[in-house]
Amino acid sequence: MSGKKYQKVAVIGLGNVGNAVAYGLVNQGLCNEVLLINRNKQKAIGIALDLRQSIEYMSRNMRVWAGDFDECGDADIAIFCVGGAAPKSCDRNDLLVGACEMVKPLVEKLMASGFSGHIIVVTNPVDSIAYYIWKLSGLPASHVIGTGTALDSARLKCFLSEISHVDPRSIMACSLGEHGNSQFIPWGAAFIAGTRIEDLVKRNPEMFDMPKGDFTYAEMSAHLLEKVKKAGWKIATLTGYTCYGVASAALAIARSILRDECSVIPCSVYLDGQYKLQDVFTSTPVAINANGVQDIFELSLTDDELNEFHESVSVIRSSIDKCKKYL
Ligand SMILES: NC(=O)c1ccc[n+]([C@@H]2O[C@H](COP(=O)([O-])OP(=O)(O)OC[C@H]3O[C@@H](n4cnc5c(N)ncnc54)[C@H](O)[C@@H]3O)[C@@H](O)[C@H]2O)c1
Repeated sequence: MSGKKYQKVAVIGLGNVGNAVAYGLVNQGLCNEVLLINRNKQKAIGIALDLRQSIEYMSRNMRVWAGDFDECGDADIAIFCVGGAAPKSCDRNDLLVGACEMVKPLVEKLMASGFSGHIIVVTNPVDSIAYYIWKLSGLPASHVIGTGTALDSARLKCFLSEISHVDPRSIMACSLGEHGNSQFIPWGAAFIAGTRIEDLVKRNPEMFDMPKGDFTYAEMSAHLLEKVKKAGWKIATLTGYTCYGVASAALAIARSILRDECSVIPCSVYLDGQYKLQDVFTSTPVAINANGVQDIFELSLTDDELNEFHESVSVIRSSIDKCKKYL
C-alpha cells in the first residue's frame, strides 16, 4: 500500500452494481474516502449526498463525494462497475465490444491521474475485460482482479446450503473458469466439515434435501452446476438486473486488499503457467492481500476437469482475441 494514513476507493459507474458497491463501502466502513464517478454526474452527486447523510448510522465517519478521474491519483482501489445494455442472449460475451469501447477512455483517464493502486473489475464479460483493462493500464498483473467466479462460487455455496442446511460460509466449494456458461465445479475440492461432499452424498444421501427425492451424486452435481449458471438470469428475469451478489464479491476483494487480510477468494486473475494456462484471466482460488494477488492456488483436478477448464478458457481466449483489436 502507499503508506499514507487514509484509504481511498473510487467506484466507476454508478448503476445498479456501482450503487450497491458504494453503499457496501460505507456500510462496512472499509476506507476513509469514497470517490464516485459516473457518466451522469448528477446521479453520482445524488448518491454521494444520500450516503453522506447515512453516516450517522454507520460504524465510522467517511468522506463520500462525486468527482472525476483527476482525483484518482492517490486512490488505493478503483472498482469498474460501468456497463451498458443488458445482454440480448444468455451470453455475457455479447457485451464485449460495447464494454471495450466504454472502458478504454476510462482506463486512460484513470492512469493519466497517476493512479498506481489496484483495479477490481466487475464489468462483463469480466474475464476478458479484466485482461483488457490490465493491458491498457500497464499495472502489474497482481494489481488487477476480476470478480470472476467469486459470485458463482457464492451461489454454489448458497444452493448447497439450501439442500444440506449447513451455513454457506461453512461449506468449501467453488466454481472455476469463465464467469459464464462454460464454468465448471471441481467437486474434489468441495467439502463440508473436512469431508468431501461427494462422499457425504454417497454415504448419507438423506442429509441432502433434493427437490426430486431419490437422486444420484452425478444428478445432484449436474443439477447444481446448471442452477449456478442460470442463477443470474433468474434474478435478472425478476428484477431486470443483479447487484448484491457481485457487489458483495467485489467488496470482499476490496476488504482483503485494504485490510491486508490475505483471504482466499475464487476470482479472475492472470495465469502464468498454472493449470498449463498462460496469458489469460480466469478464476481459481487466490489469496489477496495489500499487494493484490499474493498466491494463486492450483487445485488438483481430474483429467476430465482439466479438460473442462481448458475448454472454458478457450471461450475466454476467443473473447480476449476480440479485445486485442481495441487495444
Ligand atoms: N461480474 C459479475 O458477476 C457481474 C454481475 C452483475 C453485473 N455485472 C456487470 O456490471 C456492469 C454494470 O451493471 P449494472 O447493472 O450496474 O449496469 P447499469 O446500466 O445499471 O449501470 C451502468 C453504469 O455505468 C455508467 N457508465 C456507462 N458508461 C460510462 C462512462 N463512460 N463513464 C462513467 N460511467 C459510465 C452508467 O451511467 C451507469 O450508471 C455490467 O457490465 C454488468 O454486466 C457483472
